[in-house]
Amino acid sequence: MPRFVSTTPDSRLLPFPWDTPLADWPVELLVALPRGLSRHVVRFIQVGHSVYAAKEVVEHLAVHEYRLLTDLYRLDTPSVEPVGIITERRDRAGNLLDPILLTRHLEFSLPYRSLFTPGVRQETVSRLLDAMVVLIARLHLIGFKWGDVSLSNILFRRDAGDFAAYLVDAETGELHTGLSDGQREQDLEIARTNLYGDFLDLQAGGLLLPPLDPITLVDTVTTRYHELWQELTGVEEFSGSEMDRIEGRVRRLNALGFDVAEMDIQTDAGSSKIRIQPKVVDAGHHQRRLMRLTGLDTEENQARRLLNDLDTYRFRMGLSHVDEAVVAHRWLTEVFEPVMQQVPQQLRAKREPAQLFHEVLDYRWYGSQREHREMPMIEAAQGYVRDVLEALPDEAMSREALLPVGPTERLVNPYDPSQGYVEEGEQPPHDPWEDEVDDSPVPSGFLDIAALRAKAADTGEGSGATR
Ligand SMILES: Nc1ncnc2c1ncn2[C@@H]1O[C@H](COP(=O)(O)OP(=O)(O)OP(=O)(O)O)[C@@H](O)[C@H]1O
Ligand SMILES: [Mg+2]
Repeated sequence: MPRFVSTTPDSRLLPFPWDTPLADWPVELLVALPRGLSRHVVRFIQVGHSVYAAKEVVEHLAVHEYRLLTDLYRLDTPSVEPVGIITERRDRAGNLLDPILLTRHLEFSLPYRSLFTPGVRQETVSRLLDAMVVLIARLHLIGFKWGDVSLSNILFRRDAGDFAAYLVDAETGELHTGLSDGQREQDLEIARTNLYGDFLDLQAGGLLLPPLDPITLVDTVTTRYHELWQELTGVEEFSGSEMDRIEGRVRRLNALGFDVAEMDIQTDAGSSKIRIQPKVVDAGHHQRRLMRLTGLDTEENQARRLLNDLDTYRFRMGLSHVDEAVVAHRWLTEVFEPVMQQVPQQLRAKREPAQLFHEVLDYRWYGSQREHREMPMIEAAQGYVRDVLEALPDEAMSREALLPVGPTERLVNPYDPSQGYVEEGEQPPHDPWEDEVDDSPVPSGFLDIAALRAKAADTGEGSGATR
């Protein structure tokens, strides 16, 4: 009898053929969803309305990864949610089989192989790098040394115009109370080596074209990581007459999506010097505010966009004096939900609600510019559904997005079964949101901390070099 270890036992798992190696499971039990490269056998299985990822792996690694994922999930880091481990599996001849680690499939997630398509835009790559850097820094902040940063071990989700990165493989990770500079650098060195290999691989496959090149991309990750880390944790020193620097630092961190839970402020009695250093920073500044006001659970940049729309609504409707929570409720029922209602049920698997709303806002903005009038939200939502959403490939885990595994037809993208099978004379689906003109020579990302400081200096919020 196999043994189930789980904090949330699920009896629906009992009938699965645990006595069969995962690679030999009947195809009727499997679902095809985009997946990164892996050494272990990984399959997606449908359990009721949920989809789980199953990975067959030796016992001590399965237990280690399950525990780490549980800790990471509890600490609210962007990582896949562990479901359980099935150990003591024996085949019919009584031979022991490796345990299976189950995690919940991360909805709307995209492995990098689905994002690096031929001619991928520089801007897209730059945003992927930023998302990756934020993930690494967030993990380092809580004392997690990953030990195996690679493109295949990260999942991406759309986050307004950017991406949010999630950890998917914690096998080599270690959770400490904090990381030394040496430990962080070591992690970054592993990241550099792995990512360089991943980018070379993409280049060899014709998916990374000049001017994008592996070395520049890897260097960009290192530079942006160091800049972000400095901003998140660095000491800043200034004279007592520049107290607004404290406020400036907090604002810059907020702009990067972080909240300061604790700021260490030291004054020097002898001189009038002040030293500040953020001691505890938490990601999710805008996410938390939106969640508190509307209950919507979104990514950070989506939250930023929705909050801007909420603030605009408040101003336009002359509701500045009304309590923010009341306005948020009105905005939800009068703006957000009516837009969602324009989306036919069968198209809802294509984008998460917050992402959809963000794209409708973009559609309205372009439409209004083009037609020199203000396009109403409902009209924009209908236009977006008609002109954009209909043509988009499915990204969600939905019945429509799932394809059975097994038939002999050739998949459009072998790493991304959601793109469907190749049909004679048919082009793979393309994403019109990736079509914007992009001719910037150097990828620029939202982690532009220098620009943030310059902006703060312009508005007199205090900038100054950090040390
Ligand atoms: N919960 C999940 N949600 C979505 N995709 C997942 C999930 N778990 C695994 N995957 C997909 O399966 C792939 C392989 O998983 P994973 O990296 O854990 O395997 P691995 O064999 O340990 O990898 P490695 O070769 O790095 O050791 C991932 O790249 C990801 O695309
Ligand atoms: Mg992996």
